Formats: sequence, structure tokens, C-alpha cells
Amino acid sequence: MRGELSAVAALTDRRYGFPWQPRRRSHSATLGFELRRPLATVRAMRILTGIQPSGALHLGNYFGAMRPAIELQAQGEAFYFIANYHSMTSLSDPKLRRQYTLDVALDFLACGLDPARCVFWVQSDVPEVAELAWLLSTVTPMGLLERCHSFKDKVAKLGDGEIGSVNHGLFAYPVLMAADILAFDSNLVPVGKDQKQHLEVTRDIAGKFNQQYGQTLVIPDPRIREEGAAVPGLDGQKMSKSYGNTIEIFGEEKATRKKIMGIVMDSRTPAEPKPDADKNLAVQLLKLVAPADVAMDFENRLRAGGLGYGDLKKALFEHYWQHFATARAKRTELAANQDYVRQILRDGAEKARAVATKVLERAKSASGLD
Ligand code: TRP
Repeated sequence: MRGELSAVAALTDRRYGFPWQPRRRSHSATLGFELRRPLATVRAMRILTGIQPSGALHLGNYFGAMRPAIELQAQGEAFYFIANYHSMTSLSDPKLRRQYTLDVALDFLACGLDPARCVFWVQSDVPEVAELAWLLSTVTPMGLLERCHSFKDKVAKLGDGEIGSVNHGLFAYPVLMAADILAFDSNLVPVGKDQKQHLEVTRDIAGKFNQQYGQTLVIPDPRIREEGAAVPGLDGQKMSKSYGNTIEIFGEEKATRKKIMGIVMDSRTPAEPKPDADKNLAVQLLKLVAPADVAMDFENRLRAGGLGYGDLKKALFEHYWQHFATARAKRTELAANQDYVRQILRDGAEKARAVATKVLERAKSASGLD
């Protein structure tokens, strides 16, 4: 399957070499025989994704996006950034932007993002991306952006004549996203289903640029996360900030206990057997945060009858709290050492910038801006 390459395949797959970089000629010479498949590759597969700083992250973010992204660190060069430029299209409070940006950094580092194994930075610390976005915007057809669901959905909520007040950044959002991806010669971009179209736009834009100015930009492959990974929220709908049904990863103890104990269930008595135990919201959440055998045991007891909803919810809270105990302690420690966190982001920006500068130079020289 596309994007499912093993680390070894990624290292040897020619896709990750560049036509404009010299091959390492020494291989066949030192080995004394011709490799059937030349080792054209200069580096491992580069995996890149952006994270919007939009407030406290919840279990849906964690199981849906964060954990898979953190696990991908092992499969190539992980390039992860906090998309604070993007946040400007919908959030106008500078204080909140600053706070959310730091929060995302703390959340990801606390949950296991390892600065020694990945490059982690804040988008605006690599301004080359904004410059590349301009170059890309000049090869992007308006129609391509007009067709984007994310834009159309936002406009659809407005009244007649209000479209003129939509900020241009919202319209141009996919171009900036394309610049994010293309500025780092990204090979694989893991995103949620809602970003699938933006990845298609990115590939289109890269193709247009290459067509116009010659082979310059690497065309990335998307990896779209399965919707099956959707985590149910407190009301049974998909967990989402916009539904107000979230359980935060690092929520305050009392408030989170209250939220969980407040999950509304049906009026069947504890003694009644419940053949639909697997559909129970608390059971589903328990499966995410408790060891498999423990969650199974609760499900079986609920099915058989005799387990009250109150006890089930209490267990859910305890396991949720336990599941994130280590990360919570780490987050507290990081929050008390913000200089350290800022240094990680600065180091990340420096590494990211070294890459983006080269790609931008390539694009500028290809398009006659040199
Ligand atoms: N638009 C993405 C989102 O809302 C965030 C993002 C910005 C991104 N730039 C990116 C994701 C580049 C992947 C690659 O989730």
C-alpha cells in the first residue's frame, strides 16, 4: 500500500533520492560488484505533519492523531511543527495563540515526542515557508482553492454577501499548507480525513510548479488516518472540540472526574444483563485507556448483569487518570522548565530552516528569482 513502506524499504527506495543530488558512486566500487538496485537514496523517508494550536488536546486528538504521529518517529525522519501561521486564519487573540502554541509543545513532548529522534518546531520560526507560499500561489489556479471543502464549509455558514469579509488567508490556507509540505521535501504526510483534499491540492501545486519551472519539488504521498480510529465523545458522537463533548488529556482532576461521572446512560437497573455491552460508551473509552483484559472484564460483567453504571464510570476515570500518569508528571516538569522547551523548539527550527532554505533557493533559482 502506498505509504506503508518499511523503514528498510524507505532507506533503499529510489523515491527518496533526488534527481538533482549526485548518487553515492562509491557503493559498487567498495562492494566490488554491481548492486542490482543502485542505492540512490541519500536519506530516510521524511515524514512531515503540522499541528494546529487550537487549545487543550483531548482523547480524540490523542488516539486519533498524536499517538500515531509519535509512533511514526521510528519509521523515518519525523518533521513535526506547530502551525501557528495557519491558526491566524481563525484565531485573532495573540495571547491565546502564544498560550496554545506552548500548550501543544508541552502536550506532544509530554506524550512521548522525542526531540532526539525528530525535528519539532514552530511554523513561524521558519519564515521561508511563507516566501515559498507566495511562489506557489502564482501557479495555483483559483478554481482549485474554490473547490476546497474546508473553505466551502466555512463560507456556507455565512449569509449572502458575507463572503467578501472572509479573510484571504482562509482562502489561501491550502497554499500555505502546500508550502509547509514542499519546503521540506516531505515524502509522507500523515493527516486526518478532513485534510485529504489539501494533500491532493499540494500534489497538484507541486506538479504545476515542476511543469512550469522544471523538476524542483518533491511530490509527497498522503497517509490518511482511518476514520475507525474516531474516539466517541461524552455524548456518543465523535469526540470533537466543536461538539463540546471532549475529555482532555491533561484536564484538571476534579473537573474531569465530574465529566466522566456525568456521562448519561440508559435507565436499565444494574442487575439487568446488557447484551449490547460492547456499544456502551464507557466500555469503549475504557478499551482505550485500560489494559485489554481489564476492559474485557468490565464489558463481560456489564453484559452479564450486576455491574452498575456508576462503578463502570468510576473505573473509567481511574484508568484514564492512570493511563496518562507518566505523561502528566512529565508535562508538569516541562511546564516548570519552559526555557528547556523553548530551546527544543529553537533547535528544531534551526534544523528545519536549513532544509527549507535549500528548497526555497532551488525554487527561486528555477523560477528566475536568483
Ligand atoms: N491543516 C492541518 C490541520 O488542520 C494542519 C497543517 C498545517 C498541516 N500545515 C500542514 C498538516 C502540513 C500536514 C502538513 O490539521
